[in-house]
Amino acid sequence: MDGANTSTAAPVLILLGPPGAGKGTQARMLEDKFGLVQLSTGDMLRAAVAAGTDAGKAAKAVMEAGDLVSDEIVINILRDRLAEDDCAKGVILDGFPRTTVQAQALDTLLGESGQKINAAISLEVDDAAMVSRISGRYTCGSCGEGYHDSFKQPAKDGVCDKCGGTEMKRRADDNAETVGSRLEAYHAQTAPLIAYYGGKGALQKIDAMGAIEEIAEGLSAIVTKATA
Ligand code: AP5
Repeated sequence: MDGANTSTAAPVLILLGPPGAGKGTQARMLEDKFGLVQLSTGDMLRAAVAAGTDAGKAAKAVMEAGDLVSDEIVINILRDRLAEDDCAKGVILDGFPRTTVQAQALDTLLGESGQKINAAISLEVDDAAMVSRISGRYTCGSCGEGYHDSFKQPAKDGVCDKCGGTEMKRRADDNAETVGSRLEAYHAQTAPLIAYYGGKGALQKIDAMGAIEEIAEGLSAIVTKATA
């Protein structure tokens, strides 16, 4: 494997896939199971928007339109986050990289700390399923646990299974028009990364059309092997 991690450095895993593929859902499960840190650039950008930082102000309208935020902003945010102490445990990148420029920047950043990518895992889904997954999505406002009107409901209506929080929220960009733009951005700018990581010998693919638990099992097997 040319670009894949075979050293004892902290694991680096990438989840690739279109909006609604289940990257966030699966990243949180892998985080719990393997003691890794989930790094979601979408969550970081939403936090920047909420905090009203310069990056957040620049990103807000772009995100609401379903387009990609500039490489410069996203790479800077990710670089700062990767430098934090907890990332020494190993990371699961959820939503980054999304362009070839970001993938090359990640290679450089990891190279500086002697790390490499253990696996870039592509969650394979069809576009039609994405619209219903996204339109039914909501999350716990306290801990970020994700739910769905039909596919994943909390045991007690309106109460988070994980933290007991009762404030559930929906994302501003989870609407039919924006989903179309997000899927277009994925196919034009992010899907080419499948070939990018294939060329480095780091690519793994998983059918992500099944049930959440079934996909989690398949992913766990891939992660166990890639981090052994
Ligand atoms: P981001 O937050 O990354 O959103 P996304 O990629 O569009 O992905 P989602 O969070 O919508 O979906 P997911 O794959 O995590 O699915 P989930 O697990 O929630 O990015 C938002 C925006 O920020 C972008 O549009 C862009 O503007 C900007 N941005 C972020 N990163 C960037 C970057 N690197 N560069 C530039 N711009 C960037 O699942 C969806 C729903 O389906 C949930 O309700 C879940 O419960 C349910 N579900 C999950 N799996 C299944 C299953 N197997 N069966 C049934 N339901 C399921």
